[in-house]
Amino acid sequence: MESFTWKYLVFYLLTLLLHSQVSFPSSFSSSLSSIPPCFALLQFNKSFSISASHCDDINYPKTASWDESKDCCSWDGVECDKITGHVISLDLSCSSLYAPVWKRLVDNLTQLKELLLDSVDMSSVRPSSVMNLSSSMTTLSLPFCQLQGEIEDNNFHLPGIQILILQGNKDLRGYFPKYNWTSSLKFLDFSSTSFSGELPDSIGLLPSSLFSMPKLSHLDLHENQLVGPLPNRVSGLLDLNSLFLQNNLLNGTLPSWLFTLPSLVKLIMADNQFIGEIDEFKSNSLQIIVMGDNKLHGPLPRSISRLVNLTYLDLSLNNLSIMLELELFSKLINLQDLDFSYNNVSFNFNNNITNILPMLQSLSLRSSNISEFPTFLRTTPNLLILDLSDNKICGQVPIWLGDVARDSLSFLNLSHNFLTSIDEIPWKNIFSVDLHDNLLQGPFPALRAPSLAYLWISQNNFIGEIPSLTCKASSLEVLDLSHNKFSGMIPKCLVHSVSLSVLDLRMNNFHGTIPTAFAKRNKLRNLNLNGNQLEGLLPRSLVNCRDLEILDVGNNRINDTFPYWLEGLPNLQVLVIRSNRFHGHIGNPTTKFPFSSLRILDLSNNEFSGLLPRKYFEYLKTMMDADQGREVGLTYMGEAYYQDSIMVTMKGMYIELERILIVFTTIDLSNNTFRGEMPKIIGKLKSLKGLNFSHNNLTGYITPSLGNLTNLEWLDLSSNKLIGEIPMSLVDLTSLAILNLSQNQLTGPIPSGRQFNTFTNDSYTGNLGLCGYPVSRTCNNHEAKRPPPSTLQHKDILGLENGFGWKAVSIGYGCGVIFGMFMGYLVFKIGKPKWLVRMVELEQHIMLRRLKKNAHRRHGRRN
Ligand SMILES: *[C@@H]1O[C@H](CO)[C@@H](O)[C@H](O)[C@H]1NC(C)=O
Ligand SMILES: *[C@@H]1O[C@H](CO)[C@@H](O)[C@H](O)[C@H]1NC(C)=O
Ligand SMILES: *[C@@H]1O[C@H](CO)[C@@H](O)[C@H](O)[C@H]1NC(C)=O
Ligand SMILES: *[C@@H]1O[C@H](CO)[C@@H](O)[C@H](O)[C@H]1NC(C)=O
Ligand SMILES: *[C@@H]1O[C@H](CO)[C@@H](O)[C@H](O)[C@H]1NC(C)=O
Ligand SMILES: *[C@@H]1O[C@H](CO)[C@@H](O)[C@H](O)[C@H]1NC(C)=O
Ligand SMILES: *[C@@H]1O[C@H](CO)[C@@H](O)[C@H](O)[C@H]1NC(C)=O
Ligand SMILES: *[C@@H]1O[C@H](CO)[C@@H](O)[C@H](O)[C@H]1NC(C)=O
Ligand SMILES: *[C@@H]1O[C@H](CO)[C@@H](O)[C@H](O)[C@H]1NC(C)=O
Ligand SMILES: *[C@@H]1O[C@H](CO)[C@@H](O)[C@H](O)[C@H]1NC(C)=O
Ligand SMILES: *[C@@H]1O[C@H](CO)[C@@H](O)[C@H](O)[C@H]1NC(C)=O
Repeated sequence: MESFTWKYLVFYLLTLLLHSQVSFPSSFSSSLSSIPPCFALLQFNKSFSISASHCDDINYPKTASWDESKDCCSWDGVECDKITGHVISLDLSCSSLYAPVWKRLVDNLTQLKELLLDSVDMSSVRPSSVMNLSSSMTTLSLPFCQLQGEIEDNNFHLPGIQILILQGNKDLRGYFPKYNWTSSLKFLDFSSTSFSGELPDSIGLLPSSLFSMPKLSHLDLHENQLVGPLPNRVSGLLDLNSLFLQNNLLNGTLPSWLFTLPSLVKLIMADNQFIGEIDEFKSNSLQIIVMGDNKLHGPLPRSISRLVNLTYLDLSLNNLSIMLELELFSKLINLQDLDFSYNNVSFNFNNNITNILPMLQSLSLRSSNISEFPTFLRTTPNLLILDLSDNKICGQVPIWLGDVARDSLSFLNLSHNFLTSIDEIPWKNIFSVDLHDNLLQGPFPALRAPSLAYLWISQNNFIGEIPSLTCKASSLEVLDLSHNKFSGMIPKCLVHSVSLSVLDLRMNNFHGTIPTAFAKRNKLRNLNLNGNQLEGLLPRSLVNCRDLEILDVGNNRINDTFPYWLEGLPNLQVLVIRSNRFHGHIGNPTTKFPFSSLRILDLSNNEFSGLLPRKYFEYLKTMMDADQGREVGLTYMGEAYYQDSIMVTMKGMYIELERILIVFTTIDLSNNTFRGEMPKIIGKLKSLKGLNFSHNNLTGYITPSLGNLTNLEWLDLSSNKLIGEIPMSLVDLTSLAILNLSQNQLTGPIPSGRQFNTFTNDSYTGNLGLCGYPVSRTCNNHEAKRPPPSTLQHKDILGLENGFGWKAVSIGYGCGVIFGMFMGYLVFKIGKPKWLVRMVELEQHIMLRRLKKNAHRRHGRRN
């Protein structure tokens, strides 16, 4: 079922893209060139190697079909002048080529006019060498070629260039040369490169010359750092078909010429700082309008009603006051995607409207201050995506909504409203339903659709048992029922599922034992049963959950011994069994790399006894690697579609971490009856942020090795039987915000300096032998004499601190946008504007391919 839905979405996207036919006026000159025809190409072919494919082009690799016994003019991708026989165009785009010795080709194809090498891996090619090919070069298309390094100014020599595409070469640097581009240029795409500096006056933004190029049909300047307002006046631009300015810092009001361009089909200016109102549209050619994420205000222009070819309208994230009314929308019969999220929206429809927006596929009115369901949806049979989340809609989910797009609706988000009841989820092909954070009451809503993969109904007031019918939804991947009043036993069939990845039942009233038979090869990644009344043993079949990352059974009544048998789960990162009746000794590991991925361990408030688990501490690999944060940066656990969250005691407060930072690393063994000494080995767990051994029966000294835990933010050793002095090395814990050594038998002077100057006497209560600031007892002569911290140890710690710090990790785009990834993004992050940016990128790819085909067709005709 899942794949069905995905196909559907792919289809949806393609319709969206293909709807906008791009016509590109390219008149390729075919003047003679004089290069030795085939020899160079043969050499060239031999110099390439073929790497893994990055492209979805079916004709790859073109060079594979090159037949040396035939005239090279007949080869795929090669184009010759029909009269002279000279090679004038070379299109090896998407041929999965890797080009290591590029220079040699350049030597011999100096008269080339067109060169298209999209997605060819050119990482080893000196970029300057391709910018200096020939003065008759008209088309140079090198998007996503991994070109890197700098193009020096004097080597940027393309005087006759008409089409220049360097999109997606993230590490390509350079400045725009200052010669006159204006006369020939038709298409320029430097998006997602690292070009910097000013654009030359002849194309420069924002001298108005850029907007005065008579033949310009496509202008794409997206994702740069362009600042300032758009020019007030332009001339020409009669052919301008698409204008992409998104992701810049452009400001000022929208100039009126934007609304009069006679050929403009796509206008994308999302994610800028534009202010003011949207003018009336004087031209009706627009099909795609994206002005999201600006600072526009005022009403929707009435002339919108005349844009009969409009398919896509996104004005989200502004401050517009939009009245959705019949008059404005009745003629927009092609509109597929409407996004007014994060504005102020109201409706004015009478109830018997018919057939308005018949093509609508996606409607997003998130956070737009609406208080009722839009009744015009009754007549939108093709709706796929409906997001009305974070509004003020009260009462029942109306029955008629179930009839809206009953066959097509795939994504429904009604979360963060004041809805009180929903009986069923009737849509046949629904894929994702988010109803969380409402006031929904009553029993679990009836599920009809086996296609349902994501169901969030957390933070409501649902009651009763989970019907085992739920398991009929055999594609369920995420089931989040947390923070409700569900009761009864956990249905057995849920743990039999092999599709579930997240099962979150926390904070309900489930009782009984946890079902025992977790399926082999299940995909469970997060199992959260915290805060119920579950009892009995932890089911041993949990070892079948090889993908398990989070196991939280805290705050139940489970009566078992330490689940050492989970130690072999390779991905287990969070193990929370706090506040149960776990008991007995922890003992030693039975495998070689126990809990090798563990970063959060909470055994607190149980009945564990015996020594601290020294042998386990020795192997908690993830907790030892203080460098891990540098690799992953500030990433969170979970996936695009599900952000894991968890309850932890942190700095003395029991709080819900809404998102779990990958670098969040803690051990909480508090409130048990562990005895014996604190093992020195604990000082190796260098990535620890929190350590809580309080309320146990620990004896002996505080190990000075704790001073190595330089990431530590809280340390609680209170209510034990620790003796001796507080080690001076603890002064090195420069991140420490909370220290609690109360209720022990510590003696001697309290260290001073750094964090120790910030702790109050609350940190030390009940240790009568301590002296010095901040407790009231002053140290006598004997006590005050303490050796300075050993220099050796100090050096060690400095070594650790060297280079310590966060490093932002930039995630580069691969060569070409991988379609699957893109779709994944679309499916789960319907949120704007990032997915839109991706859409535009993809669209450009498709557009460019078409452009090239047209160009070649035309070329062929002329010869
Ligand atoms: C370039 O062409 C010349 C002859 O015009 C030939 O001698 C030379 O080997 C060619 N180089 C390459 C790399 O094909
Ligand atoms: C670029 O072209 C100019 C003029 O044709 C020439 O002087 C220069 O050496 C070339 N540079 C490279 C790197 O080929
Ligand atoms: C650039 O070329 C165009 C067309 O040939 C011409 O109209 C314009 O004046 C030139 N600009 C400069 C700065 O030379
Ligand atoms: C709408 O699209 C149709 C078909 O592509 C075209 O014939 C018509 O001129 C367009 N209408 C406007 C107002 O641009
Ligand atoms: C949004 O517009 C309203 C008036 O329509 C104004 O009062 C408010 O300050 C604006 N908010 C922002 C953030 O610009
Ligand atoms: C939200 O809508 C109400 C009417 O339902 C209106 O009174 C209020 O001004 C709106 N809020 C904003 C911020 O526009
Ligand atoms: C639904 O909307 C809310 C808030 O508007 C958002 O936080 C949540 O991620 C959305 N759910 C899905 C599944 O996209
Ligand atoms: C835990 O289970 C054991 C038997 O396995 C039983 O003797 C003990 O009383 C139980 N503890 C609690 C607190 O229920
Ligand atoms: C340590 O654990 C105890 C008992 O579980 C708790 O009360 C205390 O707040 C925790 N200390 C810190 C600093 O989190
Ligand atoms: C330290 O721990 C004791 C009990 O272990 C507790 O009473 C006290 O409030 C804690 N002090 C601080 C500062 O957290
Ligand atoms: C702790 O410090 C406060 C002042 O900060 C003082 O009033 C109090 O008596 C001190 N208590 C002890 C036990 O030293």
